[in-house]
Amino acid sequence: MKHTQIIIDKEYLIGDTDPRLFGSFIEHLGRAVYEGIYQPESPFADEQGFRKDTLELVKELKVPIVRYPGGNFVSGYRWEDGVGPKELRPKRPDLAWRVTETNQFGLNEFADWAGKAGSEVMMAVNLGTRGIMEAKDLLEYCNLEGGTEMSDLRRSHGYEKPHGIKTWCLGNEMDGPWQIGHKSAQEYARLANETAKVMKTLDPTIELVACGSSNSQMPTFGDWERIVLEECFDSVDYISMHQYYGNPEGKTTDFLASSVDMDRFIRSVEAVCDHVQGKKHSNKKIRISFDEWNVWYHSNEADKLIKPWSIHPHQLEDIYNMEDALLVGSMLITLLRHADRVGIACLAQLVNVIAPIMTTDEGAFRQTIFYPFLHASTFGRGTVLHTLVKSPVYDSVYGDAPYVDCVGVIREEKEELVLFAVNKDLEEKMEVTCDLRQFSGYQVEEHIVLQGDLQAVNTMKDPGRVQPVTGGESVIEKGTLTAHLLPGSWNVIRLKRMP
Ligand code: AHR
Repeated sequence: MKHTQIIIDKEYLIGDTDPRLFGSFIEHLGRAVYEGIYQPESPFADEQGFRKDTLELVKELKVPIVRYPGGNFVSGYRWEDGVGPKELRPKRPDLAWRVTETNQFGLNEFADWAGKAGSEVMMAVNLGTRGIMEAKDLLEYCNLEGGTEMSDLRRSHGYEKPHGIKTWCLGNEMDGPWQIGHKSAQEYARLANETAKVMKTLDPTIELVACGSSNSQMPTFGDWERIVLEECFDSVDYISMHQYYGNPEGKTTDFLASSVDMDRFIRSVEAVCDHVQGKKHSNKKIRISFDEWNVWYHSNEADKLIKPWSIHPHQLEDIYNMEDALLVGSMLITLLRHADRVGIACLAQLVNVIAPIMTTDEGAFRQTIFYPFLHASTFGRGTVLHTLVKSPVYDSVYGDAPYVDCVGVIREEKEELVLFAVNKDLEEKMEVTCDLRQFSGYQVEEHIVLQGDLQAVNTMKDPGRVQPVTGGESVIEKGTLTAHLLPGSWNVIRLKRMP
C-alpha cells in the first residue's frame, strides 16, 4: 500500500476562510432560472413561483453568495427588461446562447429568491454592449434609498427598501473572443476603471471584481491581468478567475490531475497581483474572486442540437459522475489552500446548468458533485492550515501530480480539526498518517467517504446511487492519525476534542 504523510502545525496558518468561498452562480441560461429556481406552474412552486424543492437543496448547501445574471448572458443584457410589470417585459433574442429570453424573471425576483435561500447577491454589470451610465443606473436602482429616478423606479416596482448589493462584477470574460463586446485588455481596463470610479462614488461601500482571464490557456493570460490591474488597481478589490475541466477522452488520471493546473493558475494570478502591488508601492492586496469553476464537458455534443431561439431549453445539462465529484473535491481543496487570497469562489452553476442540483417534473435531486461541495461548505469554514502533503506522485499532462490532495481546517468554536482528502489512486487504498500530538484529546468524530464506480451517476429515478457514507477507516493512536483512503475516494475526516 502506498503511504502519504500529512504534516500540519496548529500555529502554521494560511488564514481564515471568507464564507463567500462557497458561493455559486445562476445565469439566465438553459433551465437555471426557468424551471430551476422559478417555475410558477410547478406543483413545487411557492407563492412567488420559486421552486421549494430547489430552495431546500440550496439551503442544505449553505450558499452564502450567488452571482447573477451571467455569465456570457450579461454582455447582451438590459437589466431594465427584467423589472416592472411582467406583462410589459419584452421577449428578446439572447445572443450569448442563441435562445429567447422572456424576462419573466429579473433582478427583483432574484433578490427575493436569494433572500429565501439565505444568500447574498453578487451582481454583474454589462460592460460588453453597455457602459458606465447603465452600470450606474443599475447600482442606483439596487442600492439607493430613494429620491432619485432609478431608486424611485425600484420603489414604484414594489421594493421600498434597497437591495443593498455589496459585491459587483465589472462585466464577464471580456478577454474572450466569444464574448459579446469582447475587448482588448487596454480597452477593458479603461472602461472597467471608469465604471468602477463612478460606481464607488455612488456607493462607496461596494466591492468590485475586475475580469481576469477566462481560463489558464487564454493567449492573453498574464498580460491581461497585469494591464487590467495597472489601470484599475485603486478602484477594484478583486480580479476574477474562471476555470472548467473536462474528460472527453476518458483519461481519468490526467483529468484528476487538473487540480495541479488550477493551483498553478492561482499562483500565477497571485504573482501578477503582487507584481502590480509592488510597482504601485502600495499596501493594498488585490484578492481573487474565482467566480466560475467546475467540471463541464458532458453536455457539449447535445448542446449543438439545440434549436436556435428556443425558450429555456435543456442546455449545459451535464450529468456528473463519481470521477467528476473527485475532481470537484480536489478543486475545493485547492481553493481552501489559497484561502488567504481567494476571497470569493462560485461553483458554476447552481441548478440544472452544469450544476449540483437538477430539477425534473417529479422533483429535484442531488448530483454527485453536490456532496464534496456540501461537505466543504459545512465543515470547511474556519482557519486553514498550511498542509504539507508528502504524497507519491504520478506522471500527468501537468507533470507530477500527487496521488493525494489534502487540506486541514480548524473550526475553533467547535473544537474540530477537519481534513479533506482525495485519493486519486484508482487501484489501491492509500495509507495516510498525520502527527496530531499538538491536538491532544482529539478523536475521530466521523470519516465520511464518497467512493464507487467512477462512471456512476445520480438520476431522479435513482437519486442515491452515489452518496456519501460514514465509517471510513481512521484512528488516532498515540497522537498519530492513521487513515486508509479507498481508491478513487473523497474523504472528510472530522476530528473532535473529546471532553
Ligand atoms: O457558466 C457557463 C459560461 O461559462 C458562462 O456564461 C461564461 O462566463 C463561461 O464561459
